[in-house]
Amino acid sequence: MLSHSKPRIEPFGPQHVAAVRAFNQRLGAGGISWRFPERWVPDWLPNVDGARVYQEFFLLLEGEDVRGAYALKHQDVSLSGEIQRVGSFYLPLSEGVINPAYGLVASRLLQDAMRRVPLLYSVGMGGRGTQVARLVRAMGWPMQVVPFYFKVRHGSRFLREVRYLRRGRWGAALLDLAAASGIGALAARVADLALTRWRTDPAVHVDAVDEGGDWLDALWRSCAARYSFAAVRDGGTLDQVYPAPERNSRLLRISRGGHAIGLAVVRDAPTSFRDSKYFGDLQVGTIVDGVAAPDHADVVVERATRQLEERGVDLLVSNQLHPAWRTALRRAGFIRGPSNFLFATSPALAQRLRARDPLWRAVHVNRGDGDAPWPGDRATLENWHEPFSSGIGP
Ligand SMILES: CC(C)(COP(=O)(O)OP(=O)(O)OC[C@H]1O[C@@H](n2cnc3c(N)ncnc32)[C@H](O)[C@@H]1OP(=O)(O)O)[C@@H](O)C(=O)NCCC(=O)NCCS
Repeated sequence: MLSHSKPRIEPFGPQHVAAVRAFNQRLGAGGISWRFPERWVPDWLPNVDGARVYQEFFLLLEGEDVRGAYALKHQDVSLSGEIQRVGSFYLPLSEGVINPAYGLVASRLLQDAMRRVPLLYSVGMGGRGTQVARLVRAMGWPMQVVPFYFKVRHGSRFLREVRYLRRGRWGAALLDLAAASGIGALAARVADLALTRWRTDPAVHVDAVDEGGDWLDALWRSCAARYSFAAVRDGGTLDQVYPAPERNSRLLRISRGGHAIGLAVVRDAPTSFRDSKYFGDLQVGTIVDGVAAPDHADVVVERATRQLEERGVDLLVSNQLHPAWRTALRRAGFIRGPSNFLFATSPALAQRLRARDPLWRAVHVNRGDGDAPWPGDRATLENWHEPFSSGIGP
């Protein structure tokens, strides 16, 4: 492979746009639906004005041709309160997927990212069996599944309309979920919830806010050390990750007695026209992200859930790794479904983490750590859908 000229990896620059487009076209002609962004300045998290969190795009070039590409997000994470610069590796694309001659490209991409930022992690990856998950495992990266939870709100309607739902991709996915979780358990849960009353604490208030501020900085500082691994979620960072002008997510400040105890990031609208194709009439609400001490995860999830329900969603979904956030989802009526959303760390980061939390019991990871907040074309719910169609089973 790559015999004609020595391959090199370079940051995506203006001179490469046509070659990236040609790479995308070859992938498309080969039946691959993934595309690499064709803008060399990322439309989400660009590296401007001393940003603490930003993306870089890298290309593997053979002569003038692009044979592979990946995205690297630079950010601060807290390791039990100690702030570290780390990287997130994602969106790897290799010509190897359509031409076996380029089989070594993928490992070159990952090695390049590990060389640039040894403390590296990756989330998502579409499940343990995918090429990218196999690749990172082969490189010695430990990984865990980030559990997926869902809650069918209008359960009786859902069960009644099963035949209609089967026609839509999301409907079929829901049925798969129901089957995987046990339709009986689902029905029982729905009946149970009909009788369940929320534990309403009158001192708790929820406000939709436009941006984080000092209160979020203070909240983040107060809970950072409670997690062995958590991406920094202070005001400035979240304003960048969920940019206000094109925000399709809402920030909810949860306070008790006038004191902020949590933040939830929720979304209840399809992110693009393309998504509505998969949803049909089904309204899906997502608890994308959250900031709170583990002992306040309950109230944050409860209020986020109620907010989404009040807006009329039919189905709620969330991925959470931390045990307190998972318990909170169960208490709010969610059921665990099959997940293909993974969290994996480079050996160097794993070593740091192992010293603090050998079993990763205090790692706070959710969809907010991936590119789900990305308002661009990568953040389509097709990425949510795929796990269901391929991820059922043990
Ligand atoms: C993800 C992607 C970049 C991986 O590239 P690839 O050429 O298909 O992957 P490779 O075959 O090089 O690597 C995966 C396999 O090679 C092995 N491998 C690769 N490099 C290795 C190395 N240096 N040492 C040991 N094993 C290695 C892996 O174990 C795995 O082997 P297996 O499939 O036999 O178990 C490519 O499949 C792709 O572009 N896919 C479409 C986009 C996509 O899905 N991106 C992921 C978004 S999350």
